[in-house]
Amino acid sequence: MDRYCLFGYPVEHSKSPEIHQEFARQTGEELVYEKIEVEKHFETAAMSFFAAGGCGANVTLPHKQAALEYADMLTGRAKRAGAVNTLMADADGIFGDNTDGVGLLRDLTVNNGVAIRDSRVLVLGASGAARGILGPLLAEKPAEIVIANRTPERAERLAEEFGAQGRALDAAGKGYDLVINATSASLQHELPLDDENVIREGGTACDLVYLDEPTLFLRWAQAAGAGQCIDGWGMLVEQAAESFALWRGIRPETAGLLRRNG
Ligand code: ATR
Repeated sequence: MDRYCLFGYPVEHSKSPEIHQEFARQTGEELVYEKIEVEKHFETAAMSFFAAGGCGANVTLPHKQAALEYADMLTGRAKRAGAVNTLMADADGIFGDNTDGVGLLRDLTVNNGVAIRDSRVLVLGASGAARGILGPLLAEKPAEIVIANRTPERAERLAEEFGAQGRALDAAGKGYDLVINATSASLQHELPLDDENVIREGGTACDLVYLDEPTLFLRWAQAAGAGQCIDGWGMLVEQAAESFALWRGIRPETAGLLRRNG
């Protein structure tokens, strides 16, 4: 049977195996998808997986940059993101892609009807998660993208690379149509910032994190007047669908899985 896996640390609570098994069931593809917990030495683990006939892998924290180094060939979007979340073995070696950004964009625009073109977008955070979504966000031609981060220098550096603006959190600005929380604050049940004017009345709040409950950021955004609050579940399902399509040449339906969470 064709073997796929998720590399990361920790991976215990990941829903990716269930998502891929559901895609396989739905499309009639025969495959197994397992979690492989790797704390260090990603390259050794990936080499042994592919040497043993593994077909493809997803890669999550903290190995997305190591996966970029490991891949023999990269897509443009993986290069731009500076990270790889999808690996595939082919005749010429190991191919690396990044489906995170496109997964988020599909969830925002297709699943939730968010119009990004000509809108004002605020991205909170300046780590790999923020980097991974900037290229696909910019491709939608928003009027403005501001990156705000607790450590402003990181926001400025990232912004410069992408032709956006980088700021400190307390200078993030006001009245954004779309505010995306790409910090890891939700994992610590913390708020990245507490200025309810950042989001315009009726605007959209999005958290890349998903938890069983709405994140603190999304509850805060709703109280601050957001019209739409979107967590990271849809992005997870859509990036998985994109990886599955790359591996198997068939695009699974995501509607059932998206509903299951809501
Ligand atoms: P990394 O090692 O990649 O920075 P991280 O520590 O999980 O990963 O942080 C990811 C992002 O979330 C960073 O932009 C971080 O801000 P800093 O660059 O200033 O560290 C941001 N972040 C994490 N916790 C936060 C919090 N409680 N409030 C605001 N931003 C936070």
